[in-house]
This record gives sequence, structure tokens and C-alpha cells, in this order.
Amino acid sequence: MRLVNISFVKEGSVLARHIRNSNGKVLLGEGIVLNRQYLTKLRYLGFDMLFVQDERFLDVEINPIISDKTKEIVYDTIQNVTTSLEKDNLNPKAIDGGSVRNAIVNIIEDLLYSSDILSNLTDIMGYDEYTYHHSVNTTVLALLLGMGKGYNHSRLLELGMGVLMHDIGKTKVPKEILNIKGSLKKEEFEEIKKHSSYGYEFIKNNQDFSLHSAHVALQHHEKWNGGGYPRGLIGDDIHEFGRIAAVADVYEALTSKRPYRDALEPYQAYEYVVAQSGFQFDPEIVKVFTQNVAVYPTGSGVELSNGLRGNVIKQNKSLPNRPIVRAVFNGNEPLQGFIDFDLAKHLSLMITKVENR
Ligand SMILES: [Fe+2]
Repeated sequence: MRLVNISFVKEGSVLARHIRNSNGKVLLGEGIVLNRQYLTKLRYLGFDMLFVQDERFLDVEINPIISDKTKEIVYDTIQNVTTSLEKDNLNPKAIDGGSVRNAIVNIIEDLLYSSDILSNLTDIMGYDEYTYHHSVNTTVLALLLGMGKGYNHSRLLELGMGVLMHDIGKTKVPKEILNIKGSLKKEEFEEIKKHSSYGYEFIKNNQDFSLHSAHVALQHHEKWNGGGYPRGLIGDDIHEFGRIAAVADVYEALTSKRPYRDALEPYQAYEYVVAQSGFQFDPEIVKVFTQNVAVYPTGSGVELSNGLRGNVIKQNKSLPNRPIVRAVFNGNEPLQGFIDFDLAKHLSLMITKVENR
């Protein structure tokens, strides 16, 4: 399969992976022939990248980092937690910590069996699924960073349970303020900032969660240099869980498309994280991040400095910015067959452009 920008997907192409809605249910199934109606509808729903079948990429596997089953469990958990909290007048005891724990156990198990470098976090998604995807992806990335730090299972559980609930305090922020698109007035932003402390209170007052987990909610907007909120803590005064969650939260948000702005390419978000090392983020966590996250995720369309174009088909774990690229075009001309370039071996070759067409 190959990842292609929807504007370059030809009618008659075959979908290579299910497209799911916010409940994790299948919207369009793998194997379906994409006609004009489907493409128009998908574009309208905000899907801008699709996995399509391509016989030159038959041997390329792009596996989702967590299984569809796990995704469904996590989606249901987030939805149930939010609904019961709202129904029960924001009573912290309404949060079913057992189901949150179970969701995290499932994610951790999937991660233990997936490849050792994070390559395909940015799953295919439309507009309306942001909250769910954001919570799931941020949790996955944070857990990978925790694994990179050598955490054992119980510490990963504490971290994951906190990260999955990191924005739960937003249920207490007035919806009219949360839904404002674009720039906020000072007092509106002050209101939104309270979600960290609200979330901390919810989690702290629920005995299914540890106090460490509660600190993820409280500190995920703190910055290494003291420029964050709510307390403006500096460096190690921020709990390590908060420092991990900060990196995961920002990277995930930057690579997600929102109705009011496009997503950054993964390599751009990666550069942002690296550039903020020692400023916004803990340098140690950034180091773990660079060892565990692919700069050019598998599937990415790229152009090489020799003028050939194709897609990333595999990662080099030790060199996250030098993947293996399968070239199928020379400029706009299709090649006869394909040529694979392992950028770990072709050191004079550079990726000059990222474009999925
Ligand atoms: Fe937040």
C-alpha cells in the first residue's frame, strides 16, 4: 500500500486500509473502489490522506501501531468517562478508573508487539475525531517515551492512565469557550488554562488513580524553562510524567489537522520538538523522543535530491532521519518498476521534499 494525498488519488483506486469514524466503526472498508462520490465525501469529512493499493508496494507493510480492537476499547473508554462525568455533575468518582486501566493495559500490550520505532502515529483521520485521536495518540507516544526511559509495567500504567485523562478537566470549562476557533481573549484563555487544575482535582479525588497520574493533568502545560502554566515550574520541579506528556501532547497536536489550520508534516513537528529542547521541553525527554520517533514515517511521499520520487517503505532504527525509500517516479515520469534507496547507505542522497502524491 501507499499513502497518497486525496487530491492525487485517481478514481478507481482501491482503498488499502479501513477508514473509521470517531467511534472506531468502519466508514469505508479496505478493498473498496474509490469512485468520485466517495472521494468527494471523504474530502468533505476532512480526510486528506488515504492508503491505496499499489502493486509496486505489495511487499510494504504499514501496520497501525495499535490494533483496531484496542482503538475501539480506548474510544469507548474516553466516551464513557466523559459522559458519566457530565451526567453525574462532574463528580470525580463517576470516572471508572478500572476501564481506563484496562484501556492502557491493552495499549501497552500492543506496543510491546509492534516495531521498535514509532512510524505511523498519525493515523488517517477526519475533523470530528480530533478529541479521541488526540487522547489516544498522545497516550501512545507518551507510553513509548516511558518505555524509552526504561519504565516498568506499573509505572507505564500510572503514566498512561494520567495521559489518557490529561485533558479531562476540559469537561469543567464552559463549552462556548472551548469551541472558540481562532484567537482567544485574555480572560477566555485564562479560563481554558484552568483545565489543568480541574483535571488534577478530578483524578486526585478518584481512588482508582495514583497521585502521579493526577500530576500529568496538572503539569502537562508546564515548560522546562518555566514559561508554562499553571505554576510556571522550572526543570526537574516538573514531574517527569508532566515533562513526557508535554512533548507527546505538543507533537501530536502539531501533526493533527484542525478545521482552522493544516497539520504540520511529521518532520516539521519533529524539528519543532528538537528545537524546543531545553526551552519548552526537557532535553533528556527530547533525546528519548529522537531515538523513538521516525522523522519520515513509513508511507510518507518524498522527493530525493537525485530527482526521483517515491515513498518511505522502512525505517533505520539507528538513523531516524535516513529511512529506506522506494522511488517510482523520475520527476513526473513513472519509472519502469521501482528502485529502493537505503539512505543509511546512500549518504549523499537527501530528502528534499515531502509530498504524498
Ligand atoms: Fe491540555
